[in-house]
Amino acid sequence: MAAVIIDGKALAARCKGQVAQEAKRFRTRPGLAVILVGNDPASRVYVTSKRKDCEECGFYSEEFALPAETGQKALLELVDVLNARPEIDGILCQLPLPKGYDYDEQEVLLRIDPSKDVDAFHPANVGKIMIGNYDFLPCTPAGVMEMLEEYGIDPAGKRCVVVGRSNIVGKPQAMLLLHKHGTVTICHSRTPDLASITRQADILVAAVGKVGLITAEMVKPGAVVIDVAMNRNEAGKLCGDVDFAPVAEKASYITPVPGGVGPMTRAMLMKNTLTAAKLHGKE
Ligand code: GUN
Repeated sequence: MAAVIIDGKALAARCKGQVAQEAKRFRTRPGLAVILVGNDPASRVYVTSKRKDCEECGFYSEEFALPAETGQKALLELVDVLNARPEIDGILCQLPLPKGYDYDEQEVLLRIDPSKDVDAFHPANVGKIMIGNYDFLPCTPAGVMEMLEEYGIDPAGKRCVVVGRSNIVGKPQAMLLLHKHGTVTICHSRTPDLASITRQADILVAAVGKVGLITAEMVKPGAVVIDVAMNRNEAGKLCGDVDFAPVAEKASYITPVPGGVGPMTRAMLMKNTLTAAKLHGKE
């Protein structure tokens, strides 16, 4: 069997098109502020693409590129200023913050006004997701759910296995699959015999950040395989956690890297910024 390759790029373009259409009707255009501390090259690429997405959707955007040595206090002060500015609906502080400078990520996330928290990382928003009554969903897991829906894959009654337990992806992904009535298992670095669990998955989500983690032997024939990771292999080529070609022979659906989950994450950020603008009465 050769899997259907889920086209995240095409779906993301359609999602952004819908957001742009909706934004046109707004009295005031939605605004996004992106904070980048330090000069991590991968983060730099993400931040630049977010600005382009804002242009495509007709949003106002501002970028704050701060030196690594900015410090926690000044970063919190910037968040306070952005919280108070009405033209800014969404605030995204690109993670991770630079190592070795004593940043406290959780304190920064807690400082962002929950109504401007387009990452859905604030504990108030995380709690709302837990009870299933939320304004924002975290962008990557939300993008995965949109992909499943677009391709007619219903998690209800399915065995769903999420490999990875990060606050950004693994944990919220598991919760969203649970909301859709999947039977969910979360695996992580201390899960013994990972393969015995992944082989049970009807829907397998890999979100670890380890090249070649998911091999064909770990996948049930006909499974849906979603690869959230964005790694570079030894040759410097972008790749996920899944050994793509052999797994694609076995799966029913699979996401490529690049061109799978990544573009959907960006599209969901635009959707969340639109939602934030609605919350701020700009519709
Ligand atoms: N770093 C990697 N992914 C993300 C994300 O979705 N949001 C933020 N703020 N930082 C990230």
